[in-house]
Amino acid sequence: MVTPTKFPGSFPQTRMRRSRQSSWTRALVREAQLSPSDLVAAMILKDGRGVREEIKTLPGVYRLSPDQAVDEARKCADLGIPALALFPYTESKDRSTRGEEATNPDNLMCRTARAIKQAVPDIGLIGDVALDPYTDHGHDGILHGEKIINDETNDALCEQALVLARAGFDVLAPSDMMDGRIKAIRERLEHEMLHDVLLLSYAVKYASCFYGPYRDAIGSSGVLKGDKKTYQMDPANGDEGLREVALDLAEGADWVMVKPGLPYLDMVRRVKDTFAVPTFVFQVSGECAMIEAAAKSGALDRQGAMMESLLCFKRAGADGIITYFATEAAEILARV
Ligand code: PBG
Repeated sequence: MVTPTKFPGSFPQTRMRRSRQSSWTRALVREAQLSPSDLVAAMILKDGRGVREEIKTLPGVYRLSPDQAVDEARKCADLGIPALALFPYTESKDRSTRGEEATNPDNLMCRTARAIKQAVPDIGLIGDVALDPYTDHGHDGILHGEKIINDETNDALCEQALVLARAGFDVLAPSDMMDGRIKAIRERLEHEMLHDVLLLSYAVKYASCFYGPYRDAIGSSGVLKGDKKTYQMDPANGDEGLREVALDLAEGADWVMVKPGLPYLDMVRRVKDTFAVPTFVFQVSGECAMIEAAAKSGALDRQGAMMESLLCFKRAGADGIITYFATEAAEILARV
């Protein structure tokens, strides 16, 4: 990389504004482009029929029943969005200490995946692998006393992964941050001859307060006991994220993710530059809610803030962006 001080030229030979003077010059020199094919639509599911229920802390985002999710999948496919990332809302009656519903082959995630694959076979389906939507304590793993037990959790995650893969999920995205779970899941998939299932590891996942609305969305917010700091990363750490990525790639991850997005763009860039592998970023619920709230108060232009934030992920090096804004952004891109 050339450092700016080594560039030849100084004012007035060089005037940076020459390239910015008109929309055609700006278009010619633009470095990053956002297209619908960069987007993954995050979608929250809820049991029932004809359900479209707005999420209080995430205005503009709805919990969708399987039939509605199929309609939404069709719309995404028409807009050129390559894939959907599904997450389930779970009532407290279906939650348990060990989160057994996660491994029920007829759970909401599996039923919805089958329905979408039947109606819209060409759209990619990404399934979150973690126990938190199904546990009555809201943690991603199996709890003994106050402690999340790593290896026992991995056994449950392998079962969950298998159930999701068999239901038609093309990509499994472990978001739990247990050590060694990519290796365990990959071995299990190979053993079951599921060679083509992709693993998108939430490798650089921080213990972040930006997940607030998501926990409300899936029914975990009043439920979570304590915090997730013994498994998710400390927001102060960057080098540790690179070690996480290195380990997950060695264990068999195809793609890796940084999460949340905007506060961690440095990690998107470092991961992309260091490993040169498909790098995803998750614009999480709290980031979308912040833009909504600022727009509602009149502080920000909603569409401008939304499109700028998405473009910035591309500039930082992301190949794919998981976001609740996907359909709306793709509609805007189709118009321009
Ligand atoms: C949990 C999971 C979380 C999100 C995706 N999977 C939250 C958490 O770790 O508590 C967050 C998504 C969002 O905030 O939009 N396995």
